[in-house]
Amino acid sequence: MEIPFIDIAKINARFCFTQAFEKNLSRAQFILGEECQAFEREFSAYCGAKYCVGVGSGYDALFLILKAYKELGKLRDFDEVIVPKNSYVASAFAITQNNLTPIFAPPREKDFLLDCSALDSLLSPRTRAIMPVHLFGQLCDMRAILDFAKKHDLLVIEDSAQAHGAYFANFNTESKPLKRAGSYANAGAFSFYPAKNLGALGDGGAVVSDDEALIRTIRVIANSGSEKKYIHTLQGVNSRLDSIQAMFLRQKLKALDSDNSARREVAKAYLQGIKHKDILLPALADYEPDSTQSAQTSDILHASSHVWHLFVLRSPRRDALQEHLRAQGIESLIHYPLPIHKQKAFAQYNALNLPNQDLHSQILSIPISQVQDEATTQKIIHAINNF
Ligand SMILES: Cc1ncc(COP(=O)(O)O)c(C=O)c1O
Repeated sequence: MEIPFIDIAKINARFCFTQAFEKNLSRAQFILGEECQAFEREFSAYCGAKYCVGVGSGYDALFLILKAYKELGKLRDFDEVIVPKNSYVASAFAITQNNLTPIFAPPREKDFLLDCSALDSLLSPRTRAIMPVHLFGQLCDMRAILDFAKKHDLLVIEDSAQAHGAYFANFNTESKPLKRAGSYANAGAFSFYPAKNLGALGDGGAVVSDDEALIRTIRVIANSGSEKKYIHTLQGVNSRLDSIQAMFLRQKLKALDSDNSARREVAKAYLQGIKHKDILLPALADYEPDSTQSAQTSDILHASSHVWHLFVLRSPRRDALQEHLRAQGIESLIHYPLPIHKQKAFAQYNALNLPNQDLHSQILSIPISQVQDEATTQKIIHAINNF
């Protein structure tokens, strides 16, 4: 394709990774170690959380949070966890692989984010946690979710795999440093899959939290249940961040804010330039807490914390639109063609009928990244407007 969905080579070409690689080769420290500790310090400070632990992937980060809560006695087998049905499947696997029960929540029609007005109807005496997913780079309504969780004594785990750096400008002006995605609730999980806003050169993930006991327990579980070599106190898994990935991530973290701003510029051009009667543009959430900006203000893009991991259009003629773009050399993807509860892996939930089912046959993600140039953006706008 002339315009690939994402050009990861171009994103990474801006950094000096060969130097980092050679340094690591001679140091011969490959797993955990100083670079991981430094990255954990820098990433927790960036997110506004007290602690961070690097792990093997985003799925592992979610899985380990729930597993550690079980170990700490805060969750038990078959407890229910509310999770959106329109996320990447890992959000739900982290629940089922812990012998917990996912309760699938519908998205808001407007912005595809967790519909907080549905929470009451999903609650049962077994509900113990909510896993909001900051889908496509936009924060869920954390104030409403945290209020609901407080009222019903629920844990809140933010799946922040698509929202590195997203923040509410006015969530808690007292808190220093600024709180960002992953640090608003009990714990946040991140993926550093290469295509993420903060992507490694392989798999990687992290958990951030202010809860020291949680982080300590995750460290032990993720290191084969061991705090001391060959002494295993907990049932564990192997899920650790590689030193070399931590070195790459430390370089890329420094660029994350400017990368997210560059993505906002592409999004702004799309929002202003795409005009088609059969295409709905992505909507910005209207609940920026305490925001003095109204959702109607043209400045909302900059008031908003959205980090535009994906730019998702909606059209009743989605497949034809995708074909039209393909014919012009523009790659697009679908996030996601099938809701989690309709997947074969979740056969026992297949009969569930949740609102907004047709979203999945109408959505289309078009290219967006921090290295996308103006000419490419204009070419994509032009192609869409000519559909
Ligand atoms: C919302 C969400 N949650 C979890 C994950 C899982 O992350 P990983 O692929 O690093 O396991 C992803 C990755 O695509 C994701 O988008």
